[in-house]
Amino acid sequence: MSEHNDRAAWFQGGEAHCSVKPEARKRAYRLVLLGPPGVGKGTQAELLCHKLGTCHLSTGDVFRAAACQDHPSPALQTALAAMKRGDLVSDGLVVTMVEERSVCLSCCGGFLLDGFPRTVMQAEALDELLDEQGVKLDAVLSYELPLSEIVDRLSGRRTCSKCKAVYHVTARPPQKEGVCDACGGSLIQREDDRPESIRVRMKAYEESTRPLADYYEKDGRLIRVSADGKPEEILERSIQALEERTVAVRS
Ligand code: AP5
Repeated sequence: MSEHNDRAAWFQGGEAHCSVKPEARKRAYRLVLLGPPGVGKGTQAELLCHKLGTCHLSTGDVFRAAACQDHPSPALQTALAAMKRGDLVSDGLVVTMVEERSVCLSCCGGFLLDGFPRTVMQAEALDELLDEQGVKLDAVLSYELPLSEIVDRLSGRRTCSKCKAVYHVTARPPQKEGVCDACGGSLIQREDDRPESIRVRMKAYEESTRPLADYYEKDGRLIRVSADGKPEEILERSIQALEERTVAVRS
């Protein structure tokens, strides 16, 4: 179901209405995906959403979509410059952006947050927002992989310039080189996937995002998942871990 959802409320702000109503979904999962840049969070998010019928809410996607605006605000221009360098966007701007979309957090279809939170301050802000909305996180899936494999995934990534589908030059190649299988758009390399930006992103991850694992581990919300292997194998591992967690919480 989620593949048809235009996620209008997420991309355009809380006032917009999504094209698909979530009533038909069996169970609302509320999840955060954690892990270093390029570990495969976006790839898993797509697979998990398809399987669980929830929405993929990526803060990076919102910024990249906003980058196409004709006249981005000064705050957005600052955010886009930070992204290009590989630095994190300021907590204040990111939290405001998520606050404006907090309707997505209480959506009865659930959510799968990818790329947010990224700092302890953002995690605390998310907990407050969830309290205000009267909902709880089911779990935080933390994907783990050695650095050398992550760099290979990032430098081989290609993204469709039109529909944003994600490929990899060797692990997930398109049928025709440089052309999106889904919409025929041209495949491009993200500006922040160049070596100098990758180095900055990894440093930002180590300094600001890795400590989040402790934040969520303290109260038992963290589930560590190996990101080794094929995407479908990692999906299987993630679903199994979620099911085991659900059984453990019930008993
Ligand atoms: P964001 O868009 O969130 O990017 P990221 O976290 O750096 O993650 P990526 O999208 O690079 O990687 P991914 O883990 O999703 O991997 P993917 O599935 O694509 O953020 C971008 C920027 O926005 C940040 O740097 C920051 O500036 C800003 N920003 C966003 N949110 C923010 C926040 N909350 N606070 C502050 N700043 C924020 O996979 C990568 C490649 O590997 C692909 O080619 C894929 O095909 C391939 N692949 C995936 N799985 C496998 C596999 N199992 N085997 C082989 N290849 C695989």
